[in-house]
Amino acid sequence: MADAAILNGKDSRRTESLDPVGPEVTTSDSEDNERTNRDGPRWLLLTSAKGGSGKTTTAYNLAVFAANEGLKVAIVDLDAQGALTTWYRLRPPEAPHILHFWSTMNRFQEVFDRLEAIHGLDLVVIDTPPAVEAYDSTIKRLIRRADLCLVPSNQGGVDPSIAANWLHFLKRERARAACILNHAKTNSRSFKPTKLALAAAGSLCPFEVRSLEDIKETVTLGLGILEVTRAQGVEDYRGVWTYVRSELGI
Ligand SMILES: Nc1ncnc2c1ncn2[C@@H]1O[C@H](COP(=O)(O)OP(=O)(O)OP(=O)(O)O)[C@@H](O)[C@H]1O
Ligand SMILES: [Mg+2]
Repeated sequence: MADAAILNGKDSRRTESLDPVGPEVTTSDSEDNERTNRDGPRWLLLTSAKGGSGKTTTAYNLAVFAANEGLKVAIVDLDAQGALTTWYRLRPPEAPHILHFWSTMNRFQEVFDRLEAIHGLDLVVIDTPPAVEAYDSTIKRLIRRADLCLVPSNQGGVDPSIAANWLHFLKRERARAACILNHAKTNSRSFKPTKLALAAAGSLCPFEVRSLEDIKETVTLGLGILEVTRAQGVEDYRGVWTYVRSELGI
């Protein structure tokens, strides 16, 4: 593993957690902060119909890119398993600050209200649980509010067709949505067929994220790959972030 080192460290960590078992909502973010984003925050939703496709990993890596570029970012963990929250709790205090919420799909409205009240927020990154189709009304509300839905897919097997079907669903719901190939093995023979299948579904992020040990290990560091020196995978996520930022218009 490459050395862990924080770039641009400057802010202390603060937690705004909506705990699924008894939320005591605290906001340390000053309400009188100067508002920098007059249009309100852009919402990025990580969603898929397949577990283990990279929703959580993509969510925190993109949030880290945004935070390191000086944007005010909130991550929202709607998975009761709390993988994104586990990552967040490991985040070193000197790392660029990211606001954090943890709740469940069923209690999403509470998070929604809190997010709407935060001044100066640029970006909200929402991580959803697997089997999200079980939460029909909530996922439809999230889709409607999201400025971009990103659907990660693993390479090969049934994953691309499941991702493509989910993308079709999102488009039927009039969402702005795109697939992204995660866990890419660019030298294996399923690489191009997977990209073709995802591209045929409508929208595909032009940058894939390779399957890399350095990326896998970031979850135990509370860092994004950008913040790990000499790590492989930085350029993969830089490509994805450039695409996402442009799609979101921020
Ligand atoms: N590009 C990658 N390279 C290496 N490992 C990766 C990559 N992307 C994700 N992983 C690893 O794959 C596993 C699944 O990723 P992740 O937890 O992000 O998926 P998920 O879609 O959020 O899963 P779930 O549906 O269970 O919430 C994790 O162990 C993660 O560290
Ligand atoms: Mg997850």
